Amino acid sequence: MLNRYPTACQTQAESASDLGRRRSEAPSTGTIARMTGEIAIASKVAPGTRARLPDGFVWGAATSAYQVEGATTADGRGESIWDRFTRQPGTIGDGSTGDTACDHYHRWERDVALMAELGLGAYRFSVAWPRVVPAGRGVVNPAGLDFYERLVDGLLAAGITPLPTLYHWDLPQALEDAGGWPVRATADAFADYAVAVVERLGDRVGTWMTINEPYVPAYLGYISGEHAPGRNDVDAGLAACHHLLVAHGLALGRIRELAPSARAGIVLNFTPTVPASDDPADVELAELREDLENRWFIEALAGRQYPPRVVERYRWRGEEIVAGDAELIAQPIDVLGINYYTRQIVRADGAGHEPPGPTTAMGWEIHPESFGTLLRSIHSRYGFPRYVITENGAAMRDHRRVDGRVDDADRIDYLRSHLAEVAAAIADGMPIEGYMVWSLLDNFEWAYGYSHRFGIVEVDPATLERIPKASALWYADVARTGVVS
Ligand code: FCB
Repeated sequence: MLNRYPTACQTQAESASDLGRRRSEAPSTGTIARMTGEIAIASKVAPGTRARLPDGFVWGAATSAYQVEGATTADGRGESIWDRFTRQPGTIGDGSTGDTACDHYHRWERDVALMAELGLGAYRFSVAWPRVVPAGRGVVNPAGLDFYERLVDGLLAAGITPLPTLYHWDLPQALEDAGGWPVRATADAFADYAVAVVERLGDRVGTWMTINEPYVPAYLGYISGEHAPGRNDVDAGLAACHHLLVAHGLALGRIRELAPSARAGIVLNFTPTVPASDDPADVELAELREDLENRWFIEALAGRQYPPRVVERYRWRGEEIVAGDAELIAQPIDVLGINYYTRQIVRADGAGHEPPGPTTAMGWEIHPESFGTLLRSIHSRYGFPRYVITENGAAMRDHRRVDGRVDDADRIDYLRSHLAEVAAAIADGMPIEGYMVWSLLDNFEWAYGYSHRFGIVEVDPATLERIPKASALWYADVARTGVVS
């Protein structure tokens, strides 16, 4: 496949590298020229703004199954690609796995009680496909569904709205063995799995999210190889992109049939991209990355074409597309989930630099203005009926002190500045209904293992005890008052 790329001497690895920001890579910088994209509508938040969110705004927290549940062999759960991937040497920074994670599978009642104590109104979690359909397709495992039923009932009893996502990257290994997301049959299997979940829980769940951040499992899973299943194949990655959207469309149709009064949508991640200079090569690369990471999925969901720049650059023949796919993918959604963490600054020569502003422990620049600009740009260009901020948060270098407190003032600053952007976008008329902080708990951060902690609640690595950080107490106050103090 190497000869599919315009530069004859380019290696597959080099080609893949401009297809996606490696999550470990600090964005490079230089003179920052301008935001790319035709519709960058600047953030309007003045520094120090004290934001108030409207009454009825939903304050919640998010996790995902593989990152928190543990219990990877309990009650008939099948193997996922992350179980397999984490066992390959060198894949996870600290050599860890999700085998135990936060043991949320066994401690969910405590976690629900904790959310209730914090006064949270919603919990975004994901359903593990290999718990429900251990071999990916075929026999349904009732014990897997029982777990999510207990969780949903427990949340409802505590007055917390369940916000499940059907796929947060834990593909059953058996499906990967049969070809994974590059194969269309995986999308069909996803629709059947969705039926099993919605049949059991559809009478109690008001909003379903189909897939979390399709960009990440497609690009990092099949192209950069940084995530499970760890493949390096551009064609496979582009096919995976398409099939993840087909899976979304098929599942959406099933949700509409089985739970006609429920809302449904998808969760996308956005990393606004800026060229490091006015150099045309930097500008061109920034546009390419915008198209790949930020426009590819949303354009198709909005009934538009896949960005031609990407199709041409990678000479994608689109052989995976069958008649009717465009309409399937572009069925109206009720809600778009938006995940935002940082922006990225790109240079065509690949030279790395420190970002111009402060960074989190991930090396990701803290740039709330890009969030505000992104929100306005999404709503003005696409006008989805409503939005939820399904993930936003920060890994910080926080450590528990001897007196047992975790004073993560820097995380509070991050959340405050980003919530101010949410409030301003709402004030401008963007229908954002809720905000799910990532994450409720310190958890398994994919290729980083447990070394990078996003939680507003610490999880003691030895005892798994939950210790709310200062940010959790601050967030509880914000949730109670609606004022971002
Ligand atoms: C998002 C993922 C989530 C978590 C955060 C930090 O891309 O959806 O699982 O890893 O990043």
